[in-house]
Amino acid sequence: MARWCGWTLCFTFTAWAWPGTMAEDDCVELGTEMRMLQLGTAVAETEHLSESLHGKDAQRLTAGRHLRNCGHLLGDECDPSANFFCSNNCPVHSHGEDCYRPVPQVMAEHPGEDGYCYFNFTGFWVSPLKDEDPDFVDYAIQGINGLRGPDYHGHNQGRLLKYHFEGQVVTTYMDSSHYSFDDLYGYSLGYLQNQGLEPSMMKNSSHWIELSKQKCLEIQEKYHFQDEELVLADWLDDNQALATKVFCAANLSMELTLPSIKARANYKSMQDCEPITARDFAKHHYIKCLLGYPNSASDGAYLNVRACLLEGNHIGMGSVSGHELVAAVSNAGGIGTLGGVTFEVQGFRKEIQEVKRRLNPGRPFGVDLLIPKLGGTARATNKDYTHGALPEMVDIMIQEGLATGLLVRHAPNFPYAEAKAT
Ligand SMILES: *[C@@H]1O[C@H](CO)[C@@H](O)[C@H](O)[C@H]1NC(C)=O
Ligand SMILES: *[C@@H]1O[C@H](CO)[C@@H](O)[C@H](O)[C@H]1NC(C)=O
Ligand SMILES: *[C@@H]1O[C@H](CO)[C@@H](O)[C@H](O)[C@H]1NC(C)=O
Repeated sequence: MARWCGWTLCFTFTAWAWPGTMAEDDCVELGTEMRMLQLGTAVAETEHLSESLHGKDAQRLTAGRHLRNCGHLLGDECDPSANFFCSNNCPVHSHGEDCYRPVPQVMAEHPGEDGYCYFNFTGFWVSPLKDEDPDFVDYAIQGINGLRGPDYHGHNQGRLLKYHFEGQVVTTYMDSSHYSFDDLYGYSLGYLQNQGLEPSMMKNSSHWIELSKQKCLEIQEKYHFQDEELVLADWLDDNQALATKVFCAANLSMELTLPSIKARANYKSMQDCEPITARDFAKHHYIKCLLGYPNSASDGAYLNVRACLLEGNHIGMGSVSGHELVAAVSNAGGIGTLGGVTFEVQGFRKEIQEVKRRLNPGRPFGVDLLIPKLGGTARATNKDYTHGALPEMVDIMIQEGLATGLLVRHAPNFPYAEAKAT
């Protein structure tokens, strides 16, 4: 049984909440057996970590894992006046008074204590990691599955978001509602895959925590947060305001949110609002750093497993060439080509049908299944991306009446495909 609290929701579950729905992916592989492609590789050589974590800040921030005197609610209920259910329980918390003082000062008075323990459950996502040696891989996978929720649309099936962020355009599929925040947050912190962190490093928890510590120190070196900016109650109350700012950056409406949250985010309308900044995200993360590096490290693990950065600042779990782009290319006179390798069989058929639904009559489109040579002189890292489902996928392509299977026909080591694709 695990309890996992992410940014927007908190779940308790005894088994995988939504097993088997996650498609294979270019960045990580989380199939039905929850395998992870990159994490399956050997732990990378430990990089030389800077020895220069000097200064009293560095010492003060080195939280241990002593879970004593964990904070708790004074009753059974969350504070009913919290700005969003259970998001600020300071008024009804055993360490509530410390919520209104700078976190660096409070933690300095409690050396070696874990801040997620001390401030346990001040927010619904604040809950201490119990293990001395946390399994960040497992934690991240549980986080992704636990947060997925009943609103999960399926792999790259969610709305395509386009953020205007720090002078850049960043896009992602909002397959689950919390991706709207988490993906940009991870991108901003540099915690996504392809942003320099090797996921296999998560397997060595102390190493991953060290990396987090280094990132935390870099954040503070860059932004110089003052103590008065680092107050827990503000952090708790800002949570929803930050989401509102993310929606502003993505040009999404937040009209339905509470007036107090809109006011905090300076949100008047979709046209008149304040978009999120890298500094906002950094501060949000830095409080987690102050509450203990295992906590900021688990944040980083979740973000790293959740998403990778694709070309053109596109955050995703694989296929960029989804049904919308494919149909648009074909309708414009080209031959849109669906990247097929990232789908499981059922999702593959559904994706093809989605393309067809959007297609003008008579327009062709294609499917691209990567079929590398296996064995013999082929690279040892080559693998069958379809996990043996190729014949079934080819059947689907034929049943769905695809005009082109051109890449399939160029794969000499798959005679089945050669014979059937036309
Ligand atoms: C954290 O707080 C909750 C809510 O008050 C409480 O039920 C739980 O026992 C606390 N956890 C720890 C480790 O003290
Ligand atoms: C794990 O990382 C720590 C800190 O970087 C390092 O000292 C240790 O040797 C690593 N352990 C293994 C098994 O690689
Ligand atoms: C934001 O959305 C509005 C209405 O949906 C649209 O008119 C406007 O062009 C969009 N702005 C940007 C920058 O995408």
